[in-house]
Amino acid sequence: MLSYQHAYHAGNLADVHKHAVLAWVLDYLTAKDKPLSYIETHAGRGLYDLAAPEAVKTGEAGAGIALAESRFPADHPYRQRLSEARAAYGDTAYPGSPLVAALGLRETDTIHLAELHPQEVAHLRAASGPWGAHVHQRDGFDLALALTPPTPRRGLMLVDPSYEVKSDYDAIPKHLSHIHRKWNVGVLMLWYPILAAGPHLGMLTSLSAAFPDALRHEVRFAPARDGHRMEGSGLFVVNAPFGLADETARLTGIFRGL
Ligand SMILES: C[S@@+](CC[C@H](N)C(=O)[O-])C[C@H]1O[C@@H](n2cnc3c(N)ncnc32)[C@H](O)[C@@H]1O
Repeated sequence: MLSYQHAYHAGNLADVHKHAVLAWVLDYLTAKDKPLSYIETHAGRGLYDLAAPEAVKTGEAGAGIALAESRFPADHPYRQRLSEARAAYGDTAYPGSPLVAALGLRETDTIHLAELHPQEVAHLRAASGPWGAHVHQRDGFDLALALTPPTPRRGLMLVDPSYEVKSDYDAIPKHLSHIHRKWNVGVLMLWYPILAAGPHLGMLTSLSAAFPDALRHEVRFAPARDGHRMEGSGLFVVNAPFGLADETARLTGIFRGL
């Protein structure tokens, strides 16, 4: 039974971290003329309204949007995707990762999105018509294994689970290793929450053993409210593009002191 709904959390500080790195990597990859595949295993609904009751209820987007607008340079690919989403969908729109990708990609690129929750997939299908994306109501890892190696072979896979099922932490290193064996040139980007109790630490030990050359980047921030367990956001990137280490060092500065 899936209960997580990203509409309560869209635009929060973890989203800004994840979407800023995603936008930067896609900007880097599209600098070359060759077409790309973009695959997302846990897509969510793709487009959020920060004035909707879910977002207003938690208020989590407040800190994320303030950071985006005050500390990111206006020409950063993430700021550009945010502006493009607002121009297309209104001032309170927030682009989920599928829309960050769709806005950053070209007609020659291919987008595959997996989402399992019936309500989320209905929103995703409704929004993503103009994005030219293939939407699959299917387990994200099943889809990833079925599609890899994709055509075109160059590309990026975002893995952004909700970690509702605690066994995800054990299963993810096995899934990523399997996907990497099938698609050794693909950029694999995994997001994870940094929680006080440290459930992610064992997963990172396994991932680092399997992918010793991967890039890991974490930012810390105060929990969104009393009792909220998330105190930071992490990304683990296999086949990290050239320059991403410098970009994440800049992001460390942008997130400092939160
Ligand atoms: C953190 S949200 C995704 C947010 C999105 N990537 C973004 O940044 O805009 C995780 C999503 O995964 C979906 N989900 C959970 N289990 C899944 C599974 N096994 N396969 C595909 N999607 C799943 C949830 O319904 C939820 O919408």
